[in-house]
Formats: sequence, structure tokens, C-alpha cells
Amino acid sequence: MRPVHWRGKGVTGGVRRGIVAGREDVSMNEELDHANVAQEMTPEESAALDALYRDFAANHMNPLWTQTGDLMPMHPKPRAVPHLWKWSTLLPLAEAAGALVPVGRGGERRAIGLANPGLGGAAYVSPTLWAAIQYLGPREVAPEHRHAQNAFRFVVEGEGVWTVVNGDPVRMSRGDLLLTPGWHFHGHHNDSDAPMAWLDGLDIPFSQTNDVGFFEFGSDRVTDAATPAFSRGERLWAHPGLRPLSQLHETVSSPLCAFRWTHTDRALAEQLALEDEGHPATYGPGHAGLRFVNPTTGGDVMPTIRCEFHRLRQGAVSAERREVGSSVFQVFDGQGAAVLDGARHRLEKGDLFVVPSWVPWSVETEDGAGLDLFRFSDAPIMERLGFMRSMVDGETR
Ligand SMILES: [Fe+2]
Repeated sequence: MRPVHWRGKGVTGGVRRGIVAGREDVSMNEELDHANVAQEMTPEESAALDALYRDFAANHMNPLWTQTGDLMPMHPKPRAVPHLWKWSTLLPLAEAAGALVPVGRGGERRAIGLANPGLGGAAYVSPTLWAAIQYLGPREVAPEHRHAQNAFRFVVEGEGVWTVVNGDPVRMSRGDLLLTPGWHFHGHHNDSDAPMAWLDGLDIPFSQTNDVGFFEFGSDRVTDAATPAFSRGERLWAHPGLRPLSQLHETVSSPLCAFRWTHTDRALAEQLALEDEGHPATYGPGHAGLRFVNPTTGGDVMPTIRCEFHRLRQGAVSAERREVGSSVFQVFDGQGAAVLDGARHRLEKGDLFVVPSWVPWSVETEDGAGLDLFRFSDAPIMERLGFMRSMVDGETR
């Protein structure tokens, strides 16, 4: 009896088409022409092949040849899909949770994760990233804990909450980016009579997929309930281009855990002003862009998460980009639209949208307004592991 060839399941065979680096390639791959092979089988061979597949399944084995197209696609084919969440929908639902669900030890946080419609209901905005709206009522306290997962907060509106990071109280105000890097104790306390909601971003899906998570409870109350305007970390680190001589070693995450809106706003405004004056400064025409960095390395603020801020002046349209890895954007101010894989989504303040891996995206202004966007992504993971590729307006970078 001649050797039994495999029969493809889920493989169409023949000519296979794929898009590589944005251009359409046509490749002949005879090894994948399983259907034709199966058609040439005798009844005995076909029965033997079926028995082989049953034996594979009984022994917890799964052959590569029936699933190559999924395991090794010609380009990223994310299960996650581009999606927009309206702040005008999220906030009332978070407020409703505030009225019904207590915050305290056990549940730890009143945070509602955004569940990408392509990921089966898990509270994952992408395969690597978690994005949630967290809500803290007047005078409430979210107890301290620490975990291996890296986290940040971005504040689109409101004030009155302090996050205590390793015992250092950090004020949270509109436009601020606040870090709680992996294994830093953190808790939140609302010192005001008004509720506050903000964006939480973490690497929870990446952590869960790779089984790297550790967790430890801390104080049931915050360890320092003071409400200083500036944290000790800012007093030490938040001076442009100036590094304390007592802190010359590199750290994995930024020791500066608060990036204030006044600095971000000024830096963006100056890029556009320099462009007006004819100097190279912007990310693209009318498009200012910033990356938040760890002052000890100049690299990303945390090992798994990149944070950026983008500002489009009135009438500006960004380039169309696609990158390996996923991103989440939140509209901080202004009006405009995001074009995700060809579909246009209108944007207003607070709206959040996700761009899965290799999905083309661009943003543009609308109605005579500018557009301010906070962005976070898993780019540090993709770059460090050598998987990053990107295209800008159809050109590979
Ligand atoms: Fe936490």
C-alpha cells in the first residue's frame, strides 16, 4: 500500500492568495493542495486517514497541515475587530454600576472592561490590552494592591481622586496620564463630593495568555491619604532634561508616574507653532504627536505599553497607517472621525476605539474643530520581540 497522504480540512488547496506588506501576492503551494490528494485516495486509504485523525484526537494531537492557514497566515488576521465605544454610552452605565455595585476588597475596582466583539465576550479590548472605564463615587476608596500587570490611568474629565502609588499620593486631573507600573502597590481615594470616571489601561490579556500574573493585597485603606498637588515622584523627576544624580540607574518602568496635561498641551501646541513658522516639528502636516517616556531610558513608560498623544489641527487629516500589534485611542477633545479598515466612525469627546493588528487606520478633523487623541498600544512588546512592521500611506517602514 502506498503512503497515505493527508487530506486537508479547512484548506482549499490550489492557488492561494495573500496580501504581504500591502501588495497582493499570488503563490502556488502544492504542499497545500490537500483536497486533490484526498480525491486520489482509494477507499481503504481514505478509511485509514479517517482512523489516523481519530487517533490524533484521542491522543490530544492536532496536525499542522489542516490548519496552516490559521497558524501561519500571509499577514496578521486578527480575531479582534475595529470597534468604537461612545463615552455617552459608557459613562451612564458606569454611573449605574456606581449606584449598584460597591467597591472594596475582593472586587477591588469598579472597572468595566471593554470587550472586543471579535474576542468571544472576554473583557479584552485586544489580544494583549485591557481598557476599562473605572468609576469611583464621592469619598470612596479602592483598596491597595499590587500585581505583575502594568497599568495606567488617563483622565478625560473630572478631578478629586488621588492614586497612591507605592505610598506616594498622585493627583488625577483632566488630561493627566498616571502610571502604576507592574508590582507597584496602588489604591485610589476620592477626596471630593463628586464621582469621577477615568480610563484604565493594562496588559491583562497578554499577562493571562502567558501566565505571568502575580497578585498581592495591600492596605484596605490607602497608606497615605494626603492630597498634594504634586507627588514626590514629580518633585524628583518632572524637570525637563534634568536627572537627579541620586537616580542614575535605569529602571524598567518610568519612576515619574504623573505626566501632566499642562506639559502635554504645551508640547503639542509648540509642535504646531513651529510648523507654522516653517520648522520641522510635527508627525505629519497639521498633526502633532508625542510619546510619553521613561526618563531613565528615553524608552516607553512601561515594558508592555506605549502611550502617545496626538493633536490634529483644524482641517488636518492623518496619514493612513497600519502596524503589527493593537492600539486603543480615546478622544480627549474636539471632533472628527476615525477611518478603520475603510469604515468611517464619527468621534466625540471621550469616545474610545480599538485598532487591531495590521488594520489600516487614519484620523481626521471635522466641523471646523481640532482633534486631541490619547493612544496606548502594545508596541513595546512587538518591537522588543522583533515582530513590528508598519506601513504609512501604503509604504513599508
Ligand atoms: Fe490594580
